[in-house]
Amino acid sequence: MAEAVVETKGLKKYFLAMKSGFLNKLLRQEPPLVKAVDDINIEVNSGEVLSLVGESGSGKTTLGRLITTLETPTDGEIYFEGRKVIKQNRKTIRRQVQMVFQNPYESLDPRQSIKGIVTEPLARLSLSQSEKNAQFDQVMSAVSLDANFAQRRPKDLSGGQRQRVAVARAIISNPKLIVLDEPTSALDASVQSQVLNLLVALRDEYNFSYIVITHNIAVARYISDRTATMYAGQVVEIGPTDEILKNPKHPYTQALLKSVPTLESKRVEPPHGEVPSLINLPKGCRFNTRCPFVMEKCKTNDPPMRRVGQVNVACWLY
Ligand SMILES: Nc1ncnc2c1ncn2[C@@H]1O[C@H](COP(=O)(O)OP(=O)(O)OP(=O)(O)O)[C@@H](O)[C@H]1O
Ligand code: SF4
Ligand SMILES: [Mg+2]
Repeated sequence: MAEAVVETKGLKKYFLAMKSGFLNKLLRQEPPLVKAVDDINIEVNSGEVLSLVGESGSGKTTLGRLITTLETPTDGEIYFEGRKVIKQNRKTIRRQVQMVFQNPYESLDPRQSIKGIVTEPLARLSLSQSEKNAQFDQVMSAVSLDANFAQRRPKDLSGGQRQRVAVARAIISNPKLIVLDEPTSALDASVQSQVLNLLVALRDEYNFSYIVITHNIAVARYISDRTATMYAGQVVEIGPTDEILKNPKHPYTQALLKSVPTLESKRVEPPHGEVPSLINLPKGCRFNTRCPFVMEKCKTNDPPMRRVGQVNVACWLY
């Protein structure tokens, strides 16, 4: 079995619900918590691409931020190449795990030059200026951008070019893992394909691992080896992308896949019914309020993750 670049064990992130603090203190109540990520166990192997799919609010970005150490877990552990992430090694590990954000119009500092943005992750390394210049030229060439962009500002670039800048910045410290949060959703369909092709080419050349967060099943199908479906802060199904897309087992994955989006239609249709409140989660299976196959025991007992064929799925149907 390939070595896991990253592994999470019982990972949780609970946020304090907004505007809760003062009143709850006064009434001596436990403040309400938003269970954004609630007991996630996944691993990503070297050179592997894992997609995270699930509707808005299911905890995808929070999981990505935890894995890139931008967020501290409430509970649980993250292992990076077998080493547990702790406060003392977080800075070193942060260089090995980079994140590319959804919107290249907002994620790049408008005041900085392209060179400043791309080389920023090298700031704390003791490199000479000529070494930095060489690395800048190399990553700009890797993302097919002209090094003459160096002194331009983000506003001078198109959306696709900006996302290439974000990718160049992510790869300049030669990370092992890159988390891409909706990397193409702000781009036109043709530009989306170019950026996805670039990501695939970079993975092939440098053996990066990716976690790709996406609403778009077509993106997951195109780029990933495995796919995980997230619902209300948990992974409910995970397995080889081909298998998940051809033969989804969890009723929620089945509902997500009912609409077959293309690169042009950006969002999968969420199934009918309300997403449960992450503060007041339903008892038993979290999907029971929307599931067409709900049974009595689904309303009281949380289904464990089980191996079914090639996938792992958390559902009492299996
Ligand atoms: N800093 C925060 N403080 C309080 N709640 C938060 C915070 N960050 C995220 N949340 C909540 O956690 C839940 C999960 O959010 P998250 O952004 O991870 O979902 P997502 O799956 O990425 O959604 P989307 O597809 O819309 O980007 C949401 O209910 C969100 O409101
Ligand atoms: S455990 Fe029950 S409610 Fe949950 S997805 Fe499976 S069948 Fe539906
Ligand atoms: Mg998100």
